[in-house]
Amino acid sequence: MTVAGKTTPGLTSRLVNGVLAIKPLANLAKHQARQMMIKRAEKIGVSWTQEVQTLQAHDWDKELAKVQNPQVTYPDYYLRSFHAYEKGDLCWEAALEVEVAAYTVHANIWPHAGAQGDPKLRQSYHNILTNSISSEPQDILDLGCSVGLSTFALQSVYPQAKITGLDLSPYFLAVADYRTQQRHCNINWVHASAESTGLPDASFDLISMFLMCHELPQSATQQIFAEARRLLRSSGHLAIMDMNPKSAIYKKMPPYILTLLKSTEPYLDEYFTLDIEQTLVEAGFNAPTITENSPRHRTIIAQTPT
Ligand SMILES: C[S@@+](CC[C@H](N)C(=O)[O-])C[C@H]1O[C@@H](n2cnc3c(N)ncnc32)[C@H](O)[C@@H]1O
Repeated sequence: MTVAGKTTPGLTSRLVNGVLAIKPLANLAKHQARQMMIKRAEKIGVSWTQEVQTLQAHDWDKELAKVQNPQVTYPDYYLRSFHAYEKGDLCWEAALEVEVAAYTVHANIWPHAGAQGDPKLRQSYHNILTNSISSEPQDILDLGCSVGLSTFALQSVYPQAKITGLDLSPYFLAVADYRTQQRHCNINWVHASAESTGLPDASFDLISMFLMCHELPQSATQQIFAEARRLLRSSGHLAIMDMNPKSAIYKKMPPYILTLLKSTEPYLDEYFTLDIEQTLVEAGFNAPTITENSPRHRTIIAQTPT
């Protein structure tokens, strides 16, 4: 199967990639991106340093042993550096910082949103979900659930549903499990790859992928859509919330900002050039709807045939 509509990155993207191929320049870009982020966090009232220190003080052995599946094999693309962490998502540093990082990154989506930007982004997605899906989903799978921000948010929208959160990082899932204990709620955390979940056929009504696709090479997205198709019941929904490559913000983004962004997001070009609608149709979904839910994000909802 071919990846539909794959286009070549433009001249600016090729130049930026050339810069990032030079290791010392790439490291400098990553360092700068991280420093900018911590500074911005503290400015909008997200206590990055303090929150992370609190999590660092916890003994994670119990949670890690509970969630980690030693049989998991990691695809090569996942073993790269991501978000300025040398070991990508496979380290404690990333797991303990991901929540404060989400609040910081989403603070400037809407003017003056600050720390409310992240909940507002999730709310804008849920508004589209609840308007598009008429029957209440009973079984929900959150693919790429990370430390559970998207999973807990889905649980508040569908409190009666049985919810599973799946991720490839056992460190992220350990934090997710800790948060479940704090919230006294029940979520089934699964350590597996989204391409090959090991979950039974037709076992979900709704699968959600919140900010996951932009972290995937096109071949992985293709495989994950096929797996989602297998896991969904008839008339089930796959809902995807992610960056909107067609938004004016990305089109007008100055090259040096794009350089910083790409230094932390290795598959951005692949995501930006993927024809996601066609890829969903090729995976067996009906033609999806695509709705802008923020100045730079879109929500895609695809249904399985009845
Ligand atoms: C940006 S995070 C998603 C954040 C989360 N959904 C939220 O709303 O905060 C992307 C997540 O996808 C996970 N991931 C990436 N590739 C994966 C794969 N092939 N299988 C399972 N999880 C994967 C990463 O470990 C990471 O936790």
